[in-house]
Amino acid sequence: MRALTLDPGTADSLQVTEVPEPAPQPGELLVEGLAVGVCGTDKEIARAEYGWAPPGRDRLVLGHESLGRVTTAPPGSGFAAGDLVVGVVRRPDPVPCGACAHGEFDNCRNGDYTERGIKELDGYASERWCVEADYAVVLDPGLSRVGVLVEPASVVAKAWEQVRRVGERAWYEPRRALVTGAGPIGLLAAMIGVQQGLDVHVLDRVEDGPKPLLARQLGATYHHGDVDEVASGLRPDVVIEATGVGSVVLSAVRNTAAFGVVCLTGISSGGHTVNVDVAITNRAMVLENDVVVGSVNANPRHYRQAADALAKADPTWLEGLISRRVPLERFAEAFTARPDDVKVVITL
Ligand code: BGC
Repeated sequence: MRALTLDPGTADSLQVTEVPEPAPQPGELLVEGLAVGVCGTDKEIARAEYGWAPPGRDRLVLGHESLGRVTTAPPGSGFAAGDLVVGVVRRPDPVPCGACAHGEFDNCRNGDYTERGIKELDGYASERWCVEADYAVVLDPGLSRVGVLVEPASVVAKAWEQVRRVGERAWYEPRRALVTGAGPIGLLAAMIGVQQGLDVHVLDRVEDGPKPLLARQLGATYHHGDVDEVASGLRPDVVIEATGVGSVVLSAVRNTAAFGVVCLTGISSGGHTVNVDVAITNRAMVLENDVVVGSVNANPRHYRQAADALAKADPTWLEGLISRRVPLERFAEAFTARPDDVKVVITL
């Protein structure tokens, strides 16, 4: 069968190659791959800046934003042929650390976790794949065109869960949220914020095109002005930061309302310097009980929250997040950004 594979140590080694048919082990589902989403992490791996092949191998099957349909399921697994499913990305470290031992492997403490399509485990960009039933999440059949958004939505569901748990260390009633960055993560964060009844503001650099429109269609307010000006005018209770840009992060941290929570989800590429008076920032954070929390990855609980959030969302709006669907053999087009791209998907 065909799969999208690469050598994580070699830039531009991405190719469609023939790989062996997957054989389900006890407890595993056999799944027909429908689609994979392409994100910044996939592009970093393709540039040989991130990613690890399985031990003893040169090539890794890419793809961690999955969508598939179950072909066979073990009896008693809770899955049946025809179910629409998404595979979880991360697996706990083998030690396991305390977090992994408690099923919270998204918060792995020793870094020895593995990730499908990213770190030492083959991903989901193949015509067929297997997944352990415990690491598969069933979706509403209505999500057959947009279920590939569950993985990025799981990252955002976790971020919102972190925000709530941080907030609930004391009396907590957030009203206004600012989302910085209107890519798929930012827009899905805005969607969940709106679903929670918050007054949601989205900030990005672009002035027109699909991003402002998608934000407004949610009922959020879209801004493209200077981040300091926008954030200081809003004084949000919550910021979900989805750019990873140093100056935007700093502005978010400085401009929350008192008892504010900033959740950082963007993975910075580095190389940009911002001048910070750490003492002034420290003073403001202490005097306002502010919290900055980083958040990565997601565990099955967050995937289920994400699947529920997508099932509640407007299907036409979700469809609007997917800018292009590219067949597997034309994968290179999915890795070449176009100005109006939000999420690009490879169909299997
Ligand atoms: C994925 C996460 C993963 C992270 C780091 C992100 O693109 O969505 O699941 O943990 O990359 O590898």
